Amino acid sequence: MRRRTISSWIPLAGLIAITVGSHASAWGQEGHQIIGVIAMTRLTPQTRVAIIELLGNDDLATAGLWADQIRGDSKYDWAKPLHYVNAPRNENTIVLERDCAKGECAVGAITRFLAEASDSTKSIEERRDALKFAIHFIGDLHQPLHAGYADDLGGNRIPVIAFGDIKTNLHALWDTVLIRHKIHSKPGGDWRTLANALESEMPPKEVAQWESNLDPLVWGNESLAVTRLIYNDLPADAKVGEAYYQSNLPTISRRLAAGGVRLAAALNKTFANHQPAVKPAVKPAVNKENLDVSPVSP
Ligand code: ADE
Ligand code: ZN
Ligand code: ZN
Repeated sequence: MRRRTISSWIPLAGLIAITVGSHASAWGQEGHQIIGVIAMTRLTPQTRVAIIELLGNDDLATAGLWADQIRGDSKYDWAKPLHYVNAPRNENTIVLERDCAKGECAVGAITRFLAEASDSTKSIEERRDALKFAIHFIGDLHQPLHAGYADDLGGNRIPVIAFGDIKTNLHALWDTVLIRHKIHSKPGGDWRTLANALESEMPPKEVAQWESNLDPLVWGNESLAVTRLIYNDLPADAKVGEAYYQSNLPTISRRLAAGGVRLAAALNKTFANHQPAVKPAVKPAVNKENLDVSPVSP
C-alpha cells in the first residue's frame, strides 16, 4: 500500500476541518424555542423571580439559543464538547467515567450549570451564563443524536436526502429538518403553534413520569436508546421521506415535550430555596418619634 506523504493529507485534513467546524450541533433554533416555551408555562412563581433576576426580559425560549450563538467565539471553545455525550457503538448505556470524563459532556454540564445558576457565592454574570448553558444543554440532551457515537460526530457525517431534494445529514435531519416539516404541515404554522399543540397533547401519565426523574444521565440514556433505533431504521439508500417522518413523529414530539417538562422541573428544583435579591421594603415600626413625621409615600 502506498504510504501517504504529509502534503497528501492536507486536502483531507481541510475537508475534515470543514466537516467538523461547520456541523450544526444543537436542536435547530425551533427545537430549543419549543422546549423553552413549554417550560415557561410550568415554572413556579419562585423560579420565575429567579429567572427574571438572572435573565431580565429574556424568556427561556430566547435564552436557550445563546449557547449556540457563542459557538463562533473562541473564548467559549471549552464548551463545545458539552453539547452532547457519546458512547461506544456496542454499548447501550452511558458510563460517566468512560463517556463523560471530568464532567465534560452534556450530562455533566447540566449538573454543573444548574448548581452554578443557584450558587449565591458566584457573580450574577457567572450565574446568568450558567443558567443559559443549563437551559440549552437540557434541550440538547433530549435530541436523540446528542447521545450518539463519536466516530460519525453524532450522525453529522452520515449524508441523508430528505423529502426528495433536501441534502442534509442524519444529525441535522433530527435537529431541524423533521421539526420544520412538522411545523409547516399546518398552514401558517410556526414553532409557537407546534409548542402549543405539544402542550395540549401531553398525556398526564407521561408528564408525571418525566417529572419523576430529573437525573440527566437518565435523559441521556433515553436518547441513546432512540439513537440506536434511528441507526437501525435508516434506509440503505439514505433517502427519507413522508413514511420515515410519520413513523418518527411520535418520538420527536415526545422528546420535545419531555425536554420542556424536565427543563421546568429541573429549574423549579434548582430555585426551590431561592431568596429574592431585592427584599421588600420593611415598614418602619410605629413609635412616638415617627408618628409626627409626614406619611411615607406607598
Ligand atoms: N460532535 C461529536 N459528537 C456529537 C454529537 N453526538 N452531537 C453533536 N455533535 C457532535
Ligand atoms: Zn447545543
Ligand atoms: Zn444537534
